[in-house]
Amino acid sequence: MSQKVLIEIKNLKKYFNIKKGVVLKAVDNVSFNIHKGETFGLVGESGCGKTTCGRVLTNIYSKTEGSVKYDGKEIGTMQKVDKRKFKKKAQMIFQDPYASLDPRMTIGDIIGEGIEVHFPELSSKEREDKITDLLKVIGLNSEHSARFPHELSGGQRQRVGIARALAVNPEFIVCDEPISALDVSIQAQIVNLLKKLQKTLGLTYLFISHDLSMVKHISDRIGVMYLGSIVELTTNESLYSNALHPYTKALISSIPIPDPTMEKGGRIKLEGEVPSPINPPKGCKFAGRCSECMDICKTEAPELKEIEVGHQVACHLYN
Ligand SMILES: Nc1ncnc2c1ncn2[C@@H]1O[C@H](COP(=O)(O)OP(=O)(O)OP(=O)(O)O)[C@@H](O)[C@H]1O
Ligand code: SF4
Ligand SMILES: [Mg+2]
Repeated sequence: MSQKVLIEIKNLKKYFNIKKGVVLKAVDNVSFNIHKGETFGLVGESGCGKTTCGRVLTNIYSKTEGSVKYDGKEIGTMQKVDKRKFKKKAQMIFQDPYASLDPRMTIGDIIGEGIEVHFPELSSKEREDKITDLLKVIGLNSEHSARFPHELSGGQRQRVGIARALAVNPEFIVCDEPISALDVSIQAQIVNLLKKLQKTLGLTYLFISHDLSMVKHISDRIGVMYLGSIVELTTNESLYSNALHPYTKALISSIPIPDPTMEKGGRIKLEGEVPSPINPPKGCKFAGRCSECMDICKTEAPELKEIEVGHQVACHLYN
């Protein structure tokens, strides 16, 4: 991993106007950087805004406010040529490979589609060769090219999802829960494939998961999200050995299999429901579920602050 910042997100907001006068704050003032060649893990419970964040970063959704820069350029206001280049550079892999692959298309056509759009200069023979190469890279073979998605296993389908993303020679891939739908035995294979590809192709990943134990095996740094905001951000090692935010501590203590590298201590039960992003609490969004809640927490939202080098926390306990 280099120190070069590839993606710079500052005060990013993505609000959805769900009906007249009703605004859902899916991503609310999020700031972080992703370095070239690193895997940044984004973790948090369902509905906290992970996918929305990934979609804004790949320009699938336009932001409401704030800034998202890719290689120094604001992605929302890129000119035509840069926009076209960015579309190639930033790809997404999805949770459910079955739903994201067209069942009527062969594997070869699925992988070839992006090649055709982004490399129209290639002859059909060159395109076929590229598809065969890609199948090899992701651990399938040329025979799979003529098959349909339903003829493959879940793990193989996710490999095709990865090949489709790789087909346009990307630099950055948003991996949105890519292993959550797979059998545990297959999950490690896909993580290892992603790691291998990162090394050989110099890829940068945003790895999204609702499960802290999943991001542990792949992320260099991790951001913990709660109701649209990042509450803690630090390196992988530091998060599991020195979590500071009460929400992160609760998430870590609820991981079922005890990990010797994780902080010792009793289980912290996460009680209550996540509040609605339509009407989020005024102070700390976690206040209603936090066992350490103080008076100030109910009125003032804590800012994300650097507590130690590279370790940011948004909690009044550390201010
Ligand atoms: N297109 C949309 N229109 C309106 N609301 C949306 C839209 N997409 C997401 N939301 C809402 O924004 C919030 C964040 O959703 P998002 O899908 O980003 O969460 P997530 O962290 O990816 O959750 P999960 O773990 O379930 O995938 C949720 O309250 C969701 O209902
Ligand atoms: S700011 Fe207060 S309520 Fe929020 S996590 Fe910290 S202690 Fe808990
Ligand atoms: Mg999601």
